[in-house]
Amino acid sequence: MKKYSLTRRDFIRLGAGAAAAGVVPLRGITLLEPKPLWAASRPGGMAPSDTVRFGIIGTGVEGCSLLKETLKVPGVECVAAADLYDSRHIAAKEALGGKNIDTTREYRKILDRQDIDAVIVASPDHWHRKLVVEAAEAGKDVYCEKPMSHGVEDGLAMVEAIQKNKRMCTVGSQRVSSILYAKAKEIWDSGRLGMVDTILAAWDRNTDSGAWVYPIPPDASEKTIDWNTWLGDKPKRPYDPVRFFRWRCYKDYGAGLAGDLFVHLLSGIHHVTGTNMPPQRALSTGGLYHYKDGREFPDLLWTMYDYPDFQLVLRCNHNNNLEGEFFGFYGKKGTMLIHGSTLSFRAQAPWQQPEDYSIFGWPGKLRKEYLEQWHKEHPEPKPGEFRVGEEEEVFTPPPDYSDMADHLGNFFNSVRTRQPVVENEVFGHHTAIGCHMSNYSFFNKTAAVWDASAKKIKG
Ligand SMILES: NC(=O)c1ccc[n+]([C@@H]2O[C@H](COP(=O)([O-])OP(=O)(O)OC[C@H]3O[C@@H](n4cnc5c(N)ncnc54)[C@H](O)[C@@H]3O)[C@@H](O)[C@H]2O)c1
Repeated sequence: MKKYSLTRRDFIRLGAGAAAAGVVPLRGITLLEPKPLWAASRPGGMAPSDTVRFGIIGTGVEGCSLLKETLKVPGVECVAAADLYDSRHIAAKEALGGKNIDTTREYRKILDRQDIDAVIVASPDHWHRKLVVEAAEAGKDVYCEKPMSHGVEDGLAMVEAIQKNKRMCTVGSQRVSSILYAKAKEIWDSGRLGMVDTILAAWDRNTDSGAWVYPIPPDASEKTIDWNTWLGDKPKRPYDPVRFFRWRCYKDYGAGLAGDLFVHLLSGIHHVTGTNMPPQRALSTGGLYHYKDGREFPDLLWTMYDYPDFQLVLRCNHNNNLEGEFFGFYGKKGTMLIHGSTLSFRAQAPWQQPEDYSIFGWPGKLRKEYLEQWHKEHPEPKPGEFRVGEEEEVFTPPPDYSDMADHLGNFFNSVRTRQPVVENEVFGHHTAIGCHMSNYSFFNKTAAVWDASAKKIKG
């Protein structure tokens, strides 16, 4: 890790007005160094025979972003893409820099190919189960987008299929592979936070796009989209481009704020804290305040979760972006915050202030003696020195860092080496259950309890 001094721009970007006022002195930002984005199965690099050939099912917004990022991962090659909307065949090729891959509407054509080792599943949530189970049964390793499941039953079936067929699986919450979250985990594991009883996290947005009001492309029609197949096992209904492009708003296909955004927060927190279980209990509240466009989910959602060792509070708001993406880990000995791509740690040092409350019941002489003694034992730091708790340590990845490329790199490395991934199907299943518990509580207006022996959410 290299140490860099704060530039004026960094200083402003970090909101260091408080530092300027002497509240939180900052000595510098540590720029985190990415790992090389590959792991060879032999010294000296990968032979062409080590190349992982993969296909992708679903080349919409996320599928195309993933394809673009795979270009940064050495030793992998996309050879085919399936999507139900023809224009997305073109978009997939463009995302790969114009590579002429095979494209089709029929995902089975990809799963039936013997020369494909792995598939990326980047369909809407209601298709994840079928695609992952069939891919595993066809002998493919799978990178499945988040949230892994559309319901608890789906997740159980997916875990079973992956394990029965001995496949590698990664779920697409890329924070788990991020060097920023690795640093947060290192701080958590070091014990520097002390006992942590409270974690807060938020993902706030205030744009129509952030609230999934995506524009509908002018060429979208029943001719260019296989609408009936897209509906899958959900109720049949006439072609509806709003549902096709804004599926996150509807219960049949997505899971609202919890499935779209809580899942990232939960994955990051589970990873940092070494948690691999669903929350024990969830209690949600919220409401639909602005985006009253027929959607079936709230645009503000709060959930309080119980875990054995800490309480977690999550919030997503579509109507104010004050916090952006934020995590706070509040420990007896320190506070760790993640704001976007910046991580900070500050020790808690309550003993640095002399007692200033209960001594008001003392006679003035004793009070004076106490304060003199305290200041003798706690001398003012020399210029340039900090007392414990006054200095903030700040970490950030380089501006061009991509955790998605790292996440894909980790997946393809596991495909090649058969070494386990961090965010495997069990981890992904557990974080998805946290999302389903949030929605269960919100819609049923009751606490949602995870019954581990029945493998069910109960009210
Ligand atoms: N990790 C992240 O940061 C991140 C970001 C955005 C989306 N996602 C996830 O990625 C997934 C896709 O989201 P999106 O925004 O790209 O959706 P999208 O609607 O833009 O794209 C999904 C595509 O899947 C295709 N599809 C659906 N069923 C199919 C089938 N049976 N066969 C072939 N193609 C099929 C659709 O035609 C569509 O083009 C979701 O699970 C979402 O939650 C993850």
